[in-house]
Amino acid sequence: MKSINFDYQHSLIEQHELNEIKAQVEIAHEALHNKTGPGSDYTGWVDYPQNYNHKELERLKKAAKEINSNSEILVVIGIGGSYLGARAIIDIFNHSFYNLLPNHKRKAVSIFYAGNNISGSYLRDLIELLEEKEFSLNVISKSGTTTEPAIAFRILKRILEDKYGIEEARKRIYVTTDSQSGALLKLAKNEGYETFSIPDDIGGRYSVLTPVGLLPIAAAGIDIDQLLEGGKSAMEEYNNKNLNENKCYQYAALRNILYRKGKDIEILVNYEPAWRFFAEWWKQLFGESEGKDKKGIFPVAVDFSTDLHSLGQIIQDGKENKFETIIQIQEQNRDVEIIDDPEDNDGLNFISGKTLNYINKMAFKGTLLAHKDGNVPNLVIEIPELNEYYLGKLIYFFEKACGISGYLLGVNPFNQPGVEAYKRNMFALLGKPGFEELQSQLKNRLE
Ligand code: PA5
Repeated sequence: MKSINFDYQHSLIEQHELNEIKAQVEIAHEALHNKTGPGSDYTGWVDYPQNYNHKELERLKKAAKEINSNSEILVVIGIGGSYLGARAIIDIFNHSFYNLLPNHKRKAVSIFYAGNNISGSYLRDLIELLEEKEFSLNVISKSGTTTEPAIAFRILKRILEDKYGIEEARKRIYVTTDSQSGALLKLAKNEGYETFSIPDDIGGRYSVLTPVGLLPIAAAGIDIDQLLEGGKSAMEEYNNKNLNENKCYQYAALRNILYRKGKDIEILVNYEPAWRFFAEWWKQLFGESEGKDKKGIFPVAVDFSTDLHSLGQIIQDGKENKFETIIQIQEQNRDVEIIDDPEDNDGLNFISGKTLNYINKMAFKGTLLAHKDGNVPNLVIEIPELNEYYLGKLIYFFEKACGISGYLLGVNPFNQPGVEAYKRNMFALLGKPGFEELQSQLKNRLE
């Protein structure tokens, strides 16, 4: 069976530098696997592809079928780790113009997202769209108290109830939340909503291979068994503390070596527009895991060749504080061939008969060497083909690399204390009871 390839020959790093970090990687591996490192209460994702609840998975598949039998749209309500992973995978496997396809060409319901912003225009437009459609809701929130999804759920639930009546609406609401506690769990129990559990020991950004991601992904008609199978095979392959043999750990080690040499911006590069939300998922994974204690690589993402016409300049010639991690797919499953034009006005007949995927590959190779010449280290992650198995594997690859990388950096990669600060201020400004003192402090500062 083929696997993910990690190529660091263009990293501008010498082999001895990798050898020198080997012992630290072994310590990080032991800390993660023996649950002795910081944040070890949130490392349930390490074994999850093997330990998931099979009965719950069957129930989840049944729910996905039900949604498809009575709805044209599933609205996925969640923010951050509670929606980015699902959106990433759905975008990758769905047709690029899925929502515009005629019904007979769609394999499953359309997925729309809510509760990932506080935009009134966005929600108003979504509500307008839903007026004409049959729909269901999947509200996803581990804490059950996150403001953005809670607002969207409150409003969309009422619309659902007004459209179908309380009883029918109940059957169209699927809740994914903490298994033990929280406001959403309480509501789900009181109302009798079908509920799926987010394991206690898995944080939002490590949860895409749990019901958090799996229900919307299954509803979109994507093979979740293969996704989990890929995760399981990654779990086995990357459970090897030897840096020379573990490509996932090589990626974690190299980004730390580069960081220690002043490369504190990592650019995730893809050549496929459908991967934009994969990059959003990746940005959250690494940004929220590593950016703390005044440390961390700033994760950004670009779509090439699109962004070669906007950010290409600063990557090539700007400050030498960046490195690139490029995702490549060896075998693509859709393509278009360049036709011959007898007039050849655009001078492109030299590529007639070539495919766009081939040209995209040449753009990748040419850019890689150009950026390397500009002193931008390049790391290349290659998946053999585009299917659920390799996507599951890639997700686990990045999750594991992130855990190891965070330990190499000397932070707790499984908490996110910094995300609370804006929430406190926002609540105070909105007049939430208990925040009166902060409210007057903030008002003085804003005057
Ligand atoms: O990774 C994380 O923990 C966060 O991004 C959360 O997923 C996000 O804040 C949403 O939280 P919740 O699922 O509790 O609504």
